[in-house]
Amino acid sequence: MKATYATYFVYYVLISSGFVNAFEPISTTFVVGAGVGLAAVGRRVYNYVYESCNSKWIAFNSTGLEVALDQKLFGQHVASRVIQKAVTGFMNNKNPKKPLVLSLHGWTGTGKNLVSQLIAENIYKEGMASSCVHQFVTSTHFPHSSQLENYKSQLQQWIKGNVTNCPRSIFIFDIFDGMDQMHPGLIDCIKPYLGYYDNLDGVSYRQAIFIFLSNTGGEHITQVALHFWKAGRDREEIKLHDLEPALSLSVLNNKKSGLWHTSLMDKNLVDFFVPFLPLEFRHVRLCGMAEMAAKGLKPDQDVVDQMARDLVYFPMSEKIFSVQGCKTIGSKLDYYT
Ligand SMILES: *[C@@H]1O[C@H](CO)[C@@H](O)[C@H](O)[C@H]1NC(C)=O
Ligand SMILES: *[C@@H]1O[C@H](CO)[C@@H](O)[C@H](O)[C@H]1NC(C)=O
Repeated sequence: MKATYATYFVYYVLISSGFVNAFEPISTTFVVGAGVGLAAVGRRVYNYVYESCNSKWIAFNSTGLEVALDQKLFGQHVASRVIQKAVTGFMNNKNPKKPLVLSLHGWTGTGKNLVSQLIAENIYKEGMASSCVHQFVTSTHFPHSSQLENYKSQLQQWIKGNVTNCPRSIFIFDIFDGMDQMHPGLIDCIKPYLGYYDNLDGVSYRQAIFIFLSNTGGEHITQVALHFWKAGRDREEIKLHDLEPALSLSVLNNKKSGLWHTSLMDKNLVDFFVPFLPLEFRHVRLCGMAEMAAKGLKPDQDVVDQMARDLVYFPMSEKIFSVQGCKTIGSKLDYYT
């Protein structure tokens, strides 16, 4: 705050004392000097009020991410740990050799979007609203495969332009939609930015973060969770290596789940594959309680229970996992309260 008051004060003194309007030859040098000074001051004020690509607006808070994952993401002990480690390691690395590339996998409503949001909120003061965060929903941004060539060049220009403006940029690709709709050609065009290049055409992408969200592999992750449940084992016993086969090349590479993974995987461009487990009744309840609190309502166990009970669970016989996960809980609660 001190800096702003000081700058306003400088403005005030310069303007009120007439220096700014003094154009007699004798003081020209001074006016020019003051002009340059004012430009610098003006930039400071601008940077203070408007988001800029500097440490005032961009500062990673590792504790903040840890707390947020702990308090807002439910039922994802594996994903939570991987994300914390991956993002903290990357952000604390002064000289990363490549951008961070995360591929988040799992059923609808399990927290993939939420995780992207928590990462953004703990890097940018403006969170998801930051001008450094770019989210692409493939079915919305790139709907027509006949336009593929246009999309490709546009996407490349956007990535290059935005990283030029701010190296610490995040690009989120939401490939959801029942089937993976991201055209392999679209992935191919961003592949160069994900790799181990010092720079491409003078631009370095090594500070950037790329996040891919998809439900590819979700069915296999669910099978692992179901297997643990049937064996009477604690869900928290599930380890990353139990889920790795579900995210293996053979699974992600099948026709139905889209070919786009293959080209990322065989070049080792993805740093972390992050599995999201399907959510149970108790997790939906936690989501509901958190959602009520977030809406400024007094969390009400009965209301939340009623809402959680009315959701659809699968498999048919056991009814363990919520079909919608925690998705749409916000709007559902409006109905119950
Ligand atoms: C980082 O996050 C923690 C936990 O949310 C918070 O208490 C702390 O004030 C944050 N630090 C900064 C510098 O914002
Ligand atoms: C940055 O990306 C956005 C899309 O998120 C795009 O509209 C904008 O033109 C890009 N900026 C530059 C400088 O390329």
